[in-house]
Amino acid sequence: MNGFDIKDYLRNKRELIDNYLREYFSRTFNPERLYQAVTYSLFAGGKRLRPILAISAFEACGGQAEDVLPQASSIELIHTYSLIHDDLPAMDDDDLRRGKPTNHKVFGEAMAILAGDALLTEAFFMFTEGDRFKAENLKEALRILAEAAGARGMVGGQAEDILSENSEPEPDRLEFIHKHKTGALIAASVTISPVLLGVDTRRRQALNSYGQKIGLAFQIIDDILDIIGEDKRLGKKTGADIEKGKMTYPALYGLEASRKKATALIEEAVKELSIFGSSATPLVEIARYILNRME
Ligand code: IPE
Ligand code: IPE
Ligand code: MG
Ligand code: MG
Ligand code: MG
Repeated sequence: MNGFDIKDYLRNKRELIDNYLREYFSRTFNPERLYQAVTYSLFAGGKRLRPILAISAFEACGGQAEDVLPQASSIELIHTYSLIHDDLPAMDDDDLRRGKPTNHKVFGEAMAILAGDALLTEAFFMFTEGDRFKAENLKEALRILAEAAGARGMVGGQAEDILSENSEPEPDRLEFIHKHKTGALIAASVTISPVLLGVDTRRRQALNSYGQKIGLAFQIIDDILDIIGEDKRLGKKTGADIEKGKMTYPALYGLEASRKKATALIEEAVKELSIFGSSATPLVEIARYILNRME
């Protein structure tokens, strides 16, 4: 693809997703306070990286973005719930998210917990919207997403993240945390698309492997940005990991070796896409964007 502009691409896809989410949540629900808490965090900003990845993988497999919007957008609901809960005083205790006061700062802890619960549950309702896909494909994709979000995925990683606070960093434990708390949902984002379309296992495995590698790299970069990033661009407070005694890549390996590790993962991830040819250009550029992002 000549003249591919990743910034334009990301903006266009983000608009597509935001329009879908806006339309979906134009239907209000009661109590109004819960609706406000849910939509406050969902529409506070955010890169929409996971749904964009799902769309890019879908298009790389020959699909059209509009057809996968409910499934792609549902991942953003799961992700947003995870951020609300991650910021709670009992977890990372953060005051700023997506450039705004965290959910519990505005709505209180009880409503923040419930807003997270609502988003997680609504995600699975949204996922089954429409009848574009074969039931068996939809079911398999749903199981992939549920597993990645739950105890064997993101929640397991979050649990280990909390359990390992103020412990001496260990390579295996650190890798477990990052692959689960962040890698799993990112990998699922690109894996559900070939499954929904029922494409061959070769392409499915390539995308899964790509997803796992960029997912781990994404969290390594998140750790690095917590040290060298700017609060304003990130929309969250930096320096929090050291303060909380978090087990991070820079804590174990230092900044330079951590960046090298992330760079190597991105290079490996890009290689996984060779079978797709130019249809995977967006996925290649997203991988590079993950490495160079400042927000
Ligand atoms: C932040 O995710 C939480 C991590 C898994 C590191 P993002 O950096 O994708 O946050 P948003 O969605 O853009 O706010
Ligand atoms: C969060 O990791 C991973 C999630 C599943 C939310 P972090 O705790 O490092 O994410 P930030 O830095 O608060 O966004
Ligand atoms: Mg955390
Ligand atoms: Mg956090
Ligand atoms: Mg972080």
